[in-house]
Amino acid sequence: MISSDDLFNYYAAFNHGFLHANSESGTEKLLEEIGNLEYEKILEIGIGTGATLVKIASRNSFVKLVGVDISTSMLKKARSRIRFSMLKRRITLRQIEGFGKLPFDDNSFDIVYVESVLAIQRTEVLLCYLQEILRVLTLKGKVVLNETLWLTEITTEEVRMVNDFCLENYGIIQANSEFAYPDNWQTFLHQIGFENIKLTEIQDSNNLKKTSNLSEILSSIFSLIGRLNLVFSSSTRKNLLKIESINLPFTKGKKYMNGVLISATK
Ligand SMILES: C[S@@+](CC[C@H](N)C(=O)[O-])C[C@H]1O[C@@H](n2cnc3c(N)ncnc32)[C@H](O)[C@@H]1O
Repeated sequence: MISSDDLFNYYAAFNHGFLHANSESGTEKLLEEIGNLEYEKILEIGIGTGATLVKIASRNSFVKLVGVDISTSMLKKARSRIRFSMLKRRITLRQIEGFGKLPFDDNSFDIVYVESVLAIQRTEVLLCYLQEILRVLTLKGKVVLNETLWLTEITTEEVRMVNDFCLENYGIIQANSEFAYPDNWQTFLHQIGFENIKLTEIQDSNNLKKTSNLSEILSSIFSLIGRLNLVFSSSTRKNLLKIESINLPFTKGKKYMNGVLISATK
């Protein structure tokens, strides 16, 4: 059995970036949804190895970025990526306990974004994060999430069965059973006071622009160096195989989940 710590350690070991629905192209969609940036203060929750923070900092010279994560190994890799991409002075990182509380004052961020972190939480942690995001946002501030949610035709029994399996084998659920479907998110965001709530399924697309931005190029090189680690380090390779050899209890050919972009304002 693998624990959730092991899982994040394994992915951090080979500098895996964009570990979420639709990968880097999902991030480009999230950035489109965030819109034009100038001097905003921005928070990312669950930064992984920091690939999105680098993208934003490198494209927007005046924004202030703060990233938080629960995992020591992910934070370590994010620090290395940010340094390697020459953006050390632009981004502040902080470790958090991960129970849903955010160590920031009320009204302190114009934008909060999250990529595939909230739906993998226990319900009380998920609810706490959504309330805390509302609290730390400035008035009219915006939250944008990219979360993988269950398709509405997947029954709650199927959802529970897959989550029980994942919890037992990876120490983490696939996606929350009580917040399984987009409607559950819409209802709760409305209940706690968010406005202009919008949910959009992320369609596969090839929206990756070629970049001539030095920091983004360096960040891609950092990811590439991590992948070489898979070639040269047998323990990194073995750990990835451990994850990939677990067969999820999914029926072949059936689609269960989709990436959903969720945005709302305070
Ligand atoms: C699926 S990965 C996504 C990483 C990153 N957002 C990306 O898209 O590449 C989940 C990330 O969330 C972090 N994480 C998991 N549970 C968390 C929690 N309760 N609070 C904060 N971060 C958490 C993990 O350490 C990991 O870095």
